Amino acid sequence: MVKKRIDELIEIINKANYDYYVLDNPTISDQEYDRYMQELIKLEEKYPEYARIDSPTKRVGGMVVEEFEKVAHKTPMLSLGNVFNEEEIMAFDERIKKEVGSSAYVCEPKIDGLAVSLIYEKGRLVKSVTRGDGITGEDVTHNVVTVKTIPLQLKEKIDIEVRGEIYMSKAVFEKLNKEREAKGLPLFANPRNAASGSVRQLDSKIAAQRQLDCFVYHLPNAKDFNINSHYEGLEYLKKLGFTVNPNIQKFDDIQGVLDYVEYWSQHRNKLEYEIDGIVIKVDNIENQEKLGYTSKYPKWATAFKFKAEEVTTRIKDIIFTVGRTGQVTPNAVLEPVRVAGTIVSKATLHNEDYVLDRDIKINDIVVVRKAGDVIPEVVRPVKERRNGSQIDFKMIDKCPICGSVLIKKENMAAYYCENELCDARKQESLLHYVSRNAMNIEGFGERIIEEFYNQGYLKKISDFYKLKKYKKELMELEGFGEKSINNLLENIENSKNNSLEKLLFGLGIRYVGNKTAKILASHFENIDNLSKATYEELVEINDIGDVIAKSVVDYFASEENLKLIDQLKEYGVNVKYLGVSTKESEIFSGKNFVLTGTLSSITRNEAKELIESLGGNVVGSVSKKTDVVIVGENPGSKYEKAKELNIVIWDEEKFIKYLNQER
Ligand code: IVH
Repeated sequence: MVKKRIDELIEIINKANYDYYVLDNPTISDQEYDRYMQELIKLEEKYPEYARIDSPTKRVGGMVVEEFEKVAHKTPMLSLGNVFNEEEIMAFDERIKKEVGSSAYVCEPKIDGLAVSLIYEKGRLVKSVTRGDGITGEDVTHNVVTVKTIPLQLKEKIDIEVRGEIYMSKAVFEKLNKEREAKGLPLFANPRNAASGSVRQLDSKIAAQRQLDCFVYHLPNAKDFNINSHYEGLEYLKKLGFTVNPNIQKFDDIQGVLDYVEYWSQHRNKLEYEIDGIVIKVDNIENQEKLGYTSKYPKWATAFKFKAEEVTTRIKDIIFTVGRTGQVTPNAVLEPVRVAGTIVSKATLHNEDYVLDRDIKINDIVVVRKAGDVIPEVVRPVKERRNGSQIDFKMIDKCPICGSVLIKKENMAAYYCENELCDARKQESLLHYVSRNAMNIEGFGERIIEEFYNQGYLKKISDFYKLKKYKKELMELEGFGEKSINNLLENIENSKNNSLEKLLFGLGIRYVGNKTAKILASHFENIDNLSKATYEELVEINDIGDVIAKSVVDYFASEENLKLIDQLKEYGVNVKYLGVSTKESEIFSGKNFVLTGTLSSITRNEAKELIESLGGNVVGSVSKKTDVVIVGENPGSKYEKAKELNIVIWDEEKFIKYLNQER
């Protein structure tokens, strides 16, 4: 009886919510709504055994979880490949036409929020999971149920998984930051961070206050619902009660796609939410299946990324930072300026040559943008605005942290601090160890690492596993409490179960990126085999060349490194490969590359080796068979020839970006 009434009330209120929030068409009065809600709250309090996760009372928050449970995705949650200009969109279309003979696409605004998977059973929302690393995400159901545009109950009582983006509108973001400013709280950098921060809260009260929104855009098992095209899928999702972006459009040829991209490049500021590009998807589901997937992306979709927004500001000073490898980077200290949704007060100047080539000086007004929409960089000075107060840039010759003399290697633009004991390098290595693609130990930001380092608790990688001995002391540090330290310690403990490739990447062996770590881990299966591998054995492996092989041998030749590995083993860190399959690089594999001109951040040899390690070939001269010509400073006749033959040309920036993406 009571259960029936609870179910009934849930039904009524959920429908009223849908009419109000999704259709923007209220069907009952506020008073009626409140009456139903009060009745439901009372019944749920009195009969907690009948309370349901999809009850609208959960919308108002108040649910607290102890931790986020890890959930394996039934279908991986993939990311999207990128295109940056018309030429690349055309190349995408060519490939699709060649493989499936059709150019029917759906174009969608690329919402800048966080991806979630929504799982319904018999039409009821039972679980919501973040993307995580694509294979495993975190259960954030308690927060997701507070998002009013996500239906708790569908119009049909079906089992279905739907994916979409939770986001915060620009207006809500501005209001939230204003409130935070008034309270003296730190501001959110952009709506995406604000949305993501809200969904990743243990207490759902916070998410409930944040007025988040959601557009759904993907139905992983469309065929199970007799759906043959993506567009049809979206229509179906709308019918079920979801909010689908009204600006999505279908086109029968690539011209329509180009026009759409052009239109939204001009008009994106008119939208109430931030978008960072346009997603282009093959419409026909059978064609999607034929095209398939790489390890990271569907081959049937791509994201056109908008050009980075450029703004001007003044360089107040130039300072130097030291990275994990010892590379010293000049950074411009800027008069704070808003660019691509965040306030920027520091931007990279890459290296000495970059600054001198562009003639960038302190006190210059400069153009700033975000490379790949993430890392702010100074593009060029506005020389017409010089006023005589400009100060020439001068590269330093000693490490700003430890004072060691900096070394510049032949043919390289960067200077290095070669002191392995340099505090800055050590802290950066620790940060790298905990990073997501490495050991993925959550909770450790730059500030905490620095604090623990300065206090002496964390000097080297193995110290992470000793921290639990100092639990009491750590809890007494300012800004920490039992809960936060417990969380950190638990995350450290969990990291012991990672597969070998994560550890290998985390150790920071030079030139061993994500991908190479996987290749090595799957080949050698445990760290002992790898540590005994000879140069000859290593170069024999497909995709491992001279530079990587040397670096791996060097790493394991060091007594210190071997000691570290022994310690990690003693602490119970897994050093075995747990069997995650490796896939070839999409961008480099099977393609012919030609290098011309001088590269500033890497030598010709290293570039060659890295391309080869990703399955590409490097050849000496440009011909029709060449796929890509990589052009550095002062390129030779190969550059002219490449233009003549209409071959794809990458500058160094693009090349490095793709390298990083694939490794
Ligand atoms: S489709 C297999 N559509 O962009 C389907 N993604 O850079 C893959 N995103 O992880 C996703 N708007 O979080 C798709 N209309 C849209 C999107 C969208 C935003 C996000 C999503 C994805 C990321 C990839």
